[in-house]
Amino acid sequence: MQEDPALKNQNVPEEPVFDGPVLKVEDLKTHFFTRSGVVKAVDGISFEVGRGETLGIVGESGSGKSMTAWSILGLVPKPAGRIVGGKIMYLGEDLLEKDENEMREIRGKGICMVMQDPLTSLNPVFTIGNQILESLRMDFNEPKTSLIKRATQLLANVRIPAPETRLSAYPHQMSGGMRQRVVGAIAMSRSPNVLIADEPTTSLDATIQLQYLRLLKEIQADTGAAILFITHDFGVVARMCDRVAVMYAGKIVEQADVLELFDNPQHPYTQALLKSVPDLDEDVDFLPSIEGQPPSLDNLPEGCAFAPRCPYVFDRCEEYPEQFSTGQDHVASCWRLDGAN
Ligand SMILES: Nc1ncnc2c1ncn2[C@@H]1O[C@H](COP(=O)(O)OP(=O)(O)O)[C@@H](O)[C@H]1O
Ligand code: SF4
Ligand SMILES: [Mg+2]
Repeated sequence: MQEDPALKNQNVPEEPVFDGPVLKVEDLKTHFFTRSGVVKAVDGISFEVGRGETLGIVGESGSGKSMTAWSILGLVPKPAGRIVGGKIMYLGEDLLEKDENEMREIRGKGICMVMQDPLTSLNPVFTIGNQILESLRMDFNEPKTSLIKRATQLLANVRIPAPETRLSAYPHQMSGGMRQRVVGAIAMSRSPNVLIADEPTTSLDATIQLQYLRLLKEIQADTGAAILFITHDFGVVARMCDRVAVMYAGKIVEQADVLELFDNPQHPYTQALLKSVPDLDEDVDFLPSIEGQPPSLDNLPEGCAFAPRCPYVFDRCEEYPEQFSTGQDHVASCWRLDGAN
């Protein structure tokens, strides 16, 4: 479909005046206060993502990946969950100082969560057109005919054939892949600066997953959004991410450029995970399992949380390891990396 010149550039994200990292998380701590104790779901993590960059967050189930995402979105389950420390700098402003109304606006526009399973974010009783228009109304105070033109353009942008006629369709009248594209179109209509993609808990069809990854890349190419990609799948990390943060028991234990991490893993946990991946060129649609269980987060040992599973554990590991720099933009928290040992 030909792009309507009248709509051009108006739907492109405004260049943020801020030229630092779009999202910078500093020493974030999100804890749950439960009857059985304090669960340190996220415990002092730091990372940043630049415009157009994709950061993968990888780790076993229960390591705090989703709570990191919910913390950024201001949606930590209350009253048990609370952010107890740190900063979440978005375009240079700390989200932890925003009130609920400001956060709602940021969620609606600047930082979007894109669900992998489209049925969780589309309303079955409204047409596709209705749902896109509702999103567009937040931004454009224009007559309906003009909004319909924009909606049609958005569907064309995500390569939905015959977009004009699709507007009157209901979600169940479309294939899974098409529904995903509609969700992508709605996300694009918000010109996001940050897209957060969290893996679904239920497994989806492999084709749908692949389409989803492509769609995310397309949205990123169109909008320049930074992507925070949460997954347990190393194959997806290799395909999608520029950098990776490995989470273990609420902490980031290693962080590096994706190729550097795969070629030169430094933390015993990352090494164990990667050793059990047969071949990164093949599709690995699971987080390879390593021996032992992840620790319970309400009863963490004083020192390194990985110690009970670590083949290299030694006396110093009773103290929590510092973070060591092991190369350009490559850090890991393990006492073995301390030159003084
Ligand atoms: N509502 C809750 N109440 C208490 N603890 C919770 C709650 N939600 C999550 N947690 C704790 O936070 C930890 C991290 O959860 P989550 O971020 O969902 O892990 P991941 O996404 O890595 O699988 C879990 O191990 C769990 O102990
Ligand atoms: S600090 Fe010690 S226990 Fe922890 S990963 Fe390093 S060697 Fe293993
Ligand atoms: Mg999760």
